[in-house]
Amino acid sequence: KKGFVLAIDGPAGAGKSTIAKLAAGKLGFAYIDTGAMYRAVTWKLLQTGEPFSPELAGKLANEIRITFRPENAINRVFVDGTEVTDAIRTAEVTGLVSKVAAVPEVRTAMVDQQRRMGAEGGIVMDGRDIGTVVFPDAQCKIFLTATVEERARRRGLELEAKGEKVDYKKLQEDIAFRDKQDSEREVSPLRQAEDAIYLDTSAMNIEQVTDKVLELVKEKQ
Ligand code: C5P
Repeated sequence: KKGFVLAIDGPAGAGKSTIAKLAAGKLGFAYIDTGAMYRAVTWKLLQTGEPFSPELAGKLANEIRITFRPENAINRVFVDGTEVTDAIRTAEVTGLVSKVAAVPEVRTAMVDQQRRMGAEGGIVMDGRDIGTVVFPDAQCKIFLTATVEERARRRGLELEAKGEKVDYKKLQEDIAFRDKQDSEREVSPLRQAEDAIYLDTSAMNIEQVTDKVLELVKEKQ
């Protein structure tokens, strides 16, 4: 366990956080959701009421204090002491986060923090650049993906369960657009690390994916 890092990367809505959380629970590891950190910076930027600019995003990323507090099945998120667990999941934040995450100063600040949080090992970290940039020496790297249709379907079901009305076509377009921005940015774009294991979960359920991930971890331990 000590020193072991499980890195899970992949496109939006692939189920990374669900799987990472379950795997971490089974392994007795800590779980770090790096997407929540970029969302937190985005939330803070929106709070200022100022329009987006790379300078402002970079400044806020250097000042922000993000903390996680795992509680049962949920991973509570705090920014400078204020709980933002739900506030960082709004459509407004989701629509802007890829722009914020493309700012080099934002990435430097977040990656620094992620390396410090994971320094001891015994962690599962999910994101877009964990296996390529944050922990290139991670013992186990998984690139988790699914077709865009399937990812939209899963996200839609989640939203419907919360009582929201879902436009599946729009959902699919939003996911595809975010993937495009994340894959085409200059700094640390979303891509599979050469030594990552590619796992297409389109035809798998949560339990099957979790078991597969745990099996892959075991092989590397
Ligand atoms: O994982 P999640 O969908 O919450 O991530 C939100 C956004 O944060 C992504 O679309 C991406 O722009 C950014 N992100 C990133 N690098 C990471 C994790 C997330 O750029 N390691």
